[in-house]
Amino acid sequence: MDTTTPLAFLLNRHSVPVRMLGAPIPDDAMLRALLTAAARVPDHGKIVPFRFHILRKPAIDRMARLTRAIGTAQGRDPDKLAKQAASFDDAPLTVAVIFTPDTDRPIPLIEQEQTAALACLSLVNAAQAAGFAGHWLTGWMARDPDFLTQAFGLNAPQAVTGFVHLGTPRQEPPPRPRPDLETILTWVET
Ligand SMILES: Cc1cc2nc3c(=O)[nH]c(=O)nc-3n(C[C@H](O)[C@H](O)[C@H](O)COP(=O)(O)O)c2cc1C
Repeated sequence: MDTTTPLAFLLNRHSVPVRMLGAPIPDDAMLRALLTAAARVPDHGKIVPFRFHILRKPAIDRMARLTRAIGTAQGRDPDKLAKQAASFDDAPLTVAVIFTPDTDRPIPLIEQEQTAALACLSLVNAAQAAGFAGHWLTGWMARDPDFLTQAFGLNAPQAVTGFVHLGTPRQEPPPRPRPDLETILTWVET
């Protein structure tokens, strides 16, 4: 990948599926650098409507167990559930980006959640820029009240904007189709 310029990096940035991530994971100093970059996002009102919960393997395993237990109790599709739990089994390191809006401020909730989403993308990008890789996943667990309470002690409107799985790519992912710019482009002249 051509990463010789920042624009070249952005033109080539991509996720790596969590099943292709492995060791080494960022050490604590590197992780702090990645999270500092991730926190540097546009934020209407300077609310900082997100928190980073760093999940190491025992905590990630707890997420997998909760996914299976709560999902089964709720009668969710077993195949989908197996895949969703496996994403935690595969993850070497996970940052849960938690949406923590300030509902007393006159900034629309959607704008606050957009800021949390930007932090997810920036974390994926920062990981790649540092030679690691990331994968941003959600699933029903990101919004389910039972899961959010048991996993993190959260209540609505707090939620998980993203489980961002981090590690080192063990293989190059297949290229993902990207938008054909001409099909999404309108020049507004007047
Ligand atoms: C909010 C959000 C949630 C996502 N959740 C999932 C998910 O649960 N499962 C999944 O396979 N991909 C999910 N994705 C897609 C991947 O994160 C990612 O877009 C895809 O793997 C390729 O991204 P790239 O452009 O960084 O290569 C989600 C993306 C976003 C923006």
